Amino acid sequence: MTVITVNDTLSADRALRLIDHGSTLVWDGDFQNAKQLLAALGRRVPAAEGGSFQEQRRRQARRAQVLNSLLIATHDHTIRLRRAPDVRQACLEAYGPPGGERLIPLRELLGVIGAHQLRLEGIEVPALGARIHPHYGVFAPTRSEYVELVGDRPLPRATVAFDIGTGTGVLAAVLARRGIRRVVATDNSTRAVECARENLRRLGLDASVEVVETDLFPPGLADLVVCNPPWIPARPITPLDHAVYDEDGRMLRGFLGQARDHLNPGGEVWLVLSDLAEHLGLRSRADLLDGFRYAGLRVADRSDVVPRHRRAREKEVTSLWRLCPFGSAAFVERA
Ligand SMILES: C[S@@+](CC[C@H](N)C(=O)[O-])C[C@H]1O[C@@H](n2cnc3c(N)ncnc32)[C@H](O)[C@@H]1O
Repeated sequence: MTVITVNDTLSADRALRLIDHGSTLVWDGDFQNAKQLLAALGRRVPAAEGGSFQEQRRRQARRAQVLNSLLIATHDHTIRLRRAPDVRQACLEAYGPPGGERLIPLRELLGVIGAHQLRLEGIEVPALGARIHPHYGVFAPTRSEYVELVGDRPLPRATVAFDIGTGTGVLAAVLARRGIRRVVATDNSTRAVECARENLRRLGLDASVEVVETDLFPPGLADLVVCNPPWIPARPITPLDHAVYDEDGRMLRGFLGQARDHLNPGGEVWLVLSDLAEHLGLRSRADLLDGFRYAGLRVADRSDVVPRHRRAREKEVTSLWRLCPFGSAAFVERA
């Protein structure tokens, strides 16, 4: 790999040629011009839709490789370039305390700045009547319709609930606000656990919701177990993909496999799942239903919602599956 220092005189076509020949570019010009160069590079390697999932991923990987080759130097979280923004707080939140010089892909840095903004402003969650403040690298509940599903489906008689893979803590907060006396929320990401604790404190719910860093389940039993797992069963490309990509469906299988053993008699499992994986040919509906059966769970009810977010494919549906153990209360199967 060759590292080249470049500036405002570099054209996007030349930059792309250099990158394609294995160079990494360190920017030494005007910060705003670097953003323009990045945008121009992005137009040359578009994130085109269409084709098979594998083709889309190949294009995504190529795009990421090109766009991540334009680097910005930071010194103790400060950028020493003309017209550069103050990124000290944003970098502190994403990378921890400052520690000398660091080369950061501009694309990542813009994500860090955006995440800082989102954390400051928060996201209005109608089901809570409050804002949730996501941290960098934590799944943000911008698709609020799935939160509404958890907010308005009839609750079973529940004193204790688990929220597995809590992210910002949004679903745990909804459950606590709905009157469940004790909620235990888990996540295996340290960033998510810190973020959830902060949100729950801010909402005044930290006495009723405990947040635990662990793989899947905490010890003990619950009357209601809720989970909104990463919904695409494929290998994450970046560390930030872990909230969306679940390699080999590991989390979903682990969750289903253990859910029944964590339920009190009469308890329910609420699984929130988009069917995007089915549209991409990565999992069939029959596989999912087999997974429920294999886990000793049957479908009591299913509520569907069409995501309203900008990039939702027309056909994508997110469902709240209410599952209960075989042999428990008489539910009608209507999947
Ligand atoms: C799609 S996000 C959902 C976040 C949140 N529940 C929500 O609805 O906004 C999935 C979450 O599961 C977490 N996760 C993934 N694998 C996990 C595991 N094995 N154990 C616990 N949490 C996990 C991720 O860190 C991420 O926060």
